[in-house]
Amino acid sequence: MESLTPPRVLLGVAGGIAAYKSAELLRRLTETGHSVRVLPTASALEFVGAATFEALSGQPVHTGVFVDVPSVPHVKLGQEADLVVVAPATADLMARAAAGRADDLLTASLLTARCPVLFAPAMHTEMWEHPATRANVEVLRSRGVVVLEPASGRLTGKDTGPGRLPDPAEIAEFARLLLERADALPHDLSGRRVVVSAGGTREALDPVRFLGNRSSGRQGYALARVAAQRGASVTLVAAHTADLGDPAGVEVVRVGSAAQLRDAMCAAARGANAVVMAAAVADFRPVALAEHKIKKTGSDPDPLALTTNPDILAELVRTKEQGQVVVGFAAETGDAAGDVLHHGRAKLLRKGCDLLVVNAVGDGKAFEVPDNSGWLLGADGSETELKPGSKALLATRVWDTVASRL
Ligand code: CTP
Repeated sequence: MESLTPPRVLLGVAGGIAAYKSAELLRRLTETGHSVRVLPTASALEFVGAATFEALSGQPVHTGVFVDVPSVPHVKLGQEADLVVVAPATADLMARAAAGRADDLLTASLLTARCPVLFAPAMHTEMWEHPATRANVEVLRSRGVVVLEPASGRLTGKDTGPGRLPDPAEIAEFARLLLERADALPHDLSGRRVVVSAGGTREALDPVRFLGNRSSGRQGYALARVAAQRGASVTLVAAHTADLGDPAGVEVVRVGSAAQLRDAMCAAARGANAVVMAAAVADFRPVALAEHKIKKTGSDPDPLALTTNPDILAELVRTKEQGQVVVGFAAETGDAAGDVLHHGRAKLLRKGCDLLVVNAVGDGKAFEVPDNSGWLLGADGSETELKPGSKALLATRVWDTVASRL
């Protein structure tokens, strides 16, 4: 039976400029029904006032262990938590956590917590790359703490590089994932290179119009995001998507049409360990691209004359390298000829890929929504049901199977 108590989340905030983004993360966590207690360090309160955290969480905010002593908060908060998220996690906070110190309420709670712990680091690139920080990250990961890869981009001041706090939406997605599945983010893809396509292609008719589809790209983005956090080097070939932020630690290649997607995927697939075709590719494109906007009074009797696009997945299967795992997706509705699984099995045979994720679509399922479910079919005859859950959860099931085959 599903629990009626909201998940209890401790949100640790360390003292870095990215602390201001923790207010947005807090808002996302409370809006999605979590009960959040904020544990800032004393330095975090130099950046964001306690009143902000208290107002957004509806709970008191303390930094030290000598407030409300009779309720022993430094033991109780950690023990009772379902998840601890530290965002931003600074180099200093990670050093203290790795050393097992307990000199404030946050670090004390980290020692008493037995739930999943998620660190979202933010610091300057030099600090992130310093051997001391690398060693602390390794220690924390070896103890089961999920330390996210930071995003790359503009840092405080003019410098750029890895060290930016991942987007609050992305941290919230990982928080939900760890509540769904505590062991969702092992570092088992480290040293692997993977390629994922996402979104829907657009086939231009004229300078104004195109043929497109409803794919939001969320499933492909979740696959890329989860793979990067499981240690893989990831190329995400993104066609048209909803307004999604770039996943942290992922190289994003943007494309428009099926032909561009084909070229980008074939190039990126060379030398990759796994290739996942999550994009919704238009099966047809206009025979010709009109140079000028097509007029309804124009002379062309059939401005929508179409020709078939290449089947990219089939090509990736044909050119597959030794040991490479190729994964396809199929969005199916049942019909008179058979149910979703029946169509999925037939498609797996037709496409010849190693794995096929079959999603049931229609009735508001799969498209443009955060959740997904379906089946993972293997060319070896394996069939695993993918129970309903976040798209990130489905991604972890796909990577589990891919990792076991690499
Ligand atoms: N796909 C592809 N190139 C295409 C069409 C589809 O690579 N031109 C890939 C998709 O990315 C997906 C898989 O093939 O991984 C199945 O897509 P789907 O549209 O379900 O398959 P189709 O071959 O178009 O079959 P259907 O006749 O059911 O539309």
